[in-house]
Amino acid sequence: MKFAHDFLFGAASAAYQVEGGWDEGGKGVSNWDVFSKIPGKTFENTNGDVAVDHYHRWKEDIALMAEMGLESYRFSIAWTRILPEGTGEVNPQGIAFYNQIIDECLRYGIVPFVTLYHWDLPQALEAAGGWHSKQTAEAFVRYAEVCFDAFGDRVKHWITFNEMIVFCRHGYLAGAHPPGLIDDKKAYFEATHNVITAHARAVMAYKARRQFGEIGITHVFSPAFSIDDSPENIAAAEHVNLMDTHWFYAPVLKGEYPEAVIDYLKRENLTPDWKPEELDDICKAAPMNDFLGLNYYQPQRVMKNDTSETLNLSHETVTGAPGSPSFDGVAKTVKMEDKTYTKWGWEIAPDAFLEGLRMLRQRYGNMKLYITENGLGDEDPIIDGVICDVPRIRYIETHLNAVKQAIKEGINLKGYFAWSVIDLLSWLNGFKKQYGFIYVDHADGLKRKKKLSFYWYQHIIATRGEGLGK
Ligand code: BG6
Repeated sequence: MKFAHDFLFGAASAAYQVEGGWDEGGKGVSNWDVFSKIPGKTFENTNGDVAVDHYHRWKEDIALMAEMGLESYRFSIAWTRILPEGTGEVNPQGIAFYNQIIDECLRYGIVPFVTLYHWDLPQALEAAGGWHSKQTAEAFVRYAEVCFDAFGDRVKHWITFNEMIVFCRHGYLAGAHPPGLIDDKKAYFEATHNVITAHARAVMAYKARRQFGEIGITHVFSPAFSIDDSPENIAAAEHVNLMDTHWFYAPVLKGEYPEAVIDYLKRENLTPDWKPEELDDICKAAPMNDFLGLNYYQPQRVMKNDTSETLNLSHETVTGAPGSPSFDGVAKTVKMEDKTYTKWGWEIAPDAFLEGLRMLRQRYGNMKLYITENGLGDEDPIIDGVICDVPRIRYIETHLNAVKQAIKEGINLKGYFAWSVIDLLSWLNGFKKQYGFIYVDHADGLKRKKKLSFYWYQHIIATRGEGLGK
């Protein structure tokens, strides 16, 4: 089987992780520009001031994407380039920068797939309360409208938010992302509700424009599985799915929050200050979503937590390795002897990816899906000048096999975006953890070099994945 021609083979990036040019072109300061400079917050105190300098090298980078045969490029817009203070005057230089990127992609026939928010909030809004404040949600909708009006004639694929669970949980529970709060459950749930409201209203604003493109949200897809058949561990895994998946998926796809979490919030006195008109808009917007974006890296292996510990803050667990109790202390994720893990402790499990897709269809129906991120973080070996990222090829191949199988089973999957198109700055792991098809040589003026995976993916796209899954 070849992948159909309406299936997009893509790759992704995010503004803060690639652009640099942090104070150029009229850009405002973002919360990450500030947070990453607090000593000890990031790996070796790395920050995105220069990143991989895509701000200046976008032409060369897009030419490489075209050479690879990429059909779609998922990138994010930095809110601070468009509205430096988050609200107020639009910055024409910011609009011009993204016009260049979009036009260059289209010149090569690469479909621009745009994320509006990949975690870099204007610092002025962070200082005024961040996602904890309803004003940020309002400001987001206006920012989204500015982008629809400026780019919507050419951009027909929009993602509102990237992985809201990550910036909310890390920002309000784990202290690992801005605003750096620890265990503030009230603010966490408030923030998640504000983001969901902002998403719903942006979707409505998009549809009102009749630009005839598609819009959706990208969520973390990390299905939880019990480590065994014991009822208490099965219940723990269901609990994790409820808190980490359904709390975020249900309002977008069904227009309402899951009852069980609403009850928990009432019991714990954590109910957000939600207004009837917000809940109404969430309900109205649900059927307007055109697709759901999924970022899949690994599943969660779960058991009951028999200690009184909650979310634990070691560097490994905060950056994604298992071994942490849930924020409410009910369950915990564990590393299992019989599983395979990356150097950063992330499980490699394409079978769980497929199983998760089946579970998703069962619960939410067969909506249109894109895999908006999937990839291997590694330290790539260089042998005689060749970047031999064979483990990455293997990782992507086995996950594309799962995608192919899912499509065979009738799952409505319309595209795959590898993370990432080029080596970039990992929020908490610096430049050490590489994901790209294109290597960036930090010892040689950020020179771009093609990895083995570059040629491999080029072949997969050219043959529409015909040889996969055999
Ligand atoms: C996703 C993010 O969570 O995972 C990306 O959307 C991120 O921005 C990617 O880079 C990989 O995470 P990490 O921590 O390995 O860089």
